[in-house]
Amino acid sequence: MAFWFNSDRERGRIFSEAFARDLPDLPFITDLTQVDPDEVRYVLTWTLPPDLDRFKNLEIVFSIGAGVDQFRIETLPTEVKLVRMVEDGIVRMMQEYVTLAVLSLHRNLKAYLAQQSEGRWQALPARQAADRRIGVLGLGMLGQAVIERLTPFGFPLSGWSRSPRQIDGVRCHYGAESLPSFLGETDILVCLLPLTGETRGILDARLFAALSPGASLVHVGRGAQLDHDALIDALDRHQLSGAVIDVTEPEPLPPEHPFWRHPKIMLTPHIASVTQPDTAARAVIENVKRHRAGLDPIGLVDRSRGY
Ligand code: GLV
Repeated sequence: MAFWFNSDRERGRIFSEAFARDLPDLPFITDLTQVDPDEVRYVLTWTLPPDLDRFKNLEIVFSIGAGVDQFRIETLPTEVKLVRMVEDGIVRMMQEYVTLAVLSLHRNLKAYLAQQSEGRWQALPARQAADRRIGVLGLGMLGQAVIERLTPFGFPLSGWSRSPRQIDGVRCHYGAESLPSFLGETDILVCLLPLTGETRGILDARLFAALSPGASLVHVGRGAQLDHDALIDALDRHQLSGAVIDVTEPEPLPPEHPFWRHPKIMLTPHIASVTQPDTAARAVIENVKRHRAGLDPIGLVDRSRGY
C-alpha cells in the first residue's frame, strides 16, 4: 500500500515529514519507480496522469487545489473517489483576499491610487458599510468563511447557492429563480462558485444587468465563468463601477488584453488562495485516516454535481 505525491518537490518535503510522523505505516513516495503500481492506493495531484489505469488498486485521487474542474471526472473509474483540497490555509488566504478586495472597492482604492499618480488630493464620496450590500455567489466552505470574516464590518450580507442554506445574519437565496432578486440587492458581488457546466460563463451581460446599478465584482471563482467583453462593456457604460479579478481564461492573459490597463479593474495573477503544505498535509492525513475508518473523506466530490 502506498501514497503517491505527484506535485512539486518543496511541498513534497513537507508532506513527507508529516506522513512519516502521522502515518508511518503508509509508504509515501514521490518517485514512481520506487513502487509497484499495484501498491498505489492514493495519489495527490493537480491533474490526472494519462496512464492512471496502471494503478489497479487506486482508491482516492486527492486534488492539490480547492478546485477539481481541471480533472475530467468521467475518465476516473467510478470506484475511485475524488477529493477537493479543504484545508485551513486555503480558507484563511481566501478570507484575506476577499476582505482586501471588498474593502478596496468599498473605499475607492483604485481611484485614489490613480489620483496619487496624478498628484491630486481630493476626497471622493464615501458610503457607509451599512449601505453597501455584499452578495456572495457560492455558499460552500469558502463562501461561508468569507462571509464570517466580512461580518464585523457591518455590511448587509446575502448569499446565493444552488441548494438551500441557512446562515445566521445572512439573507440566503437559492436556485436559478432567485438569482435575479439576489443580484438586484447586491452592490459588491463576490463569485466563489466552482466551475461546472452550469456556472461556465455565468458572469455575463445578463447577470451584470441584473445587479444593482453601479455594483462591482470580485471574481475568485474560475476564469471560464467570466465573459471578459461583457465586463468591459458594463464598466465602460458605468453599469458596473469596478472589478477585482484574480482568475481569468486563459491564464496568464495575453499582454494586449484590456484587463491589464483598464482603469476600473484590479488584476492579480490567481494568487487569492494557494494550498499551504503544512495545513494541507494535515488535512490529507486526516482524510486518509477517515477513509481507513470507513468514513467519507472531507471534500469528497459528488460526481453528479461536479464539485
Ligand atoms: C486554486 O485555485 C485552487 O483550486 O486551489
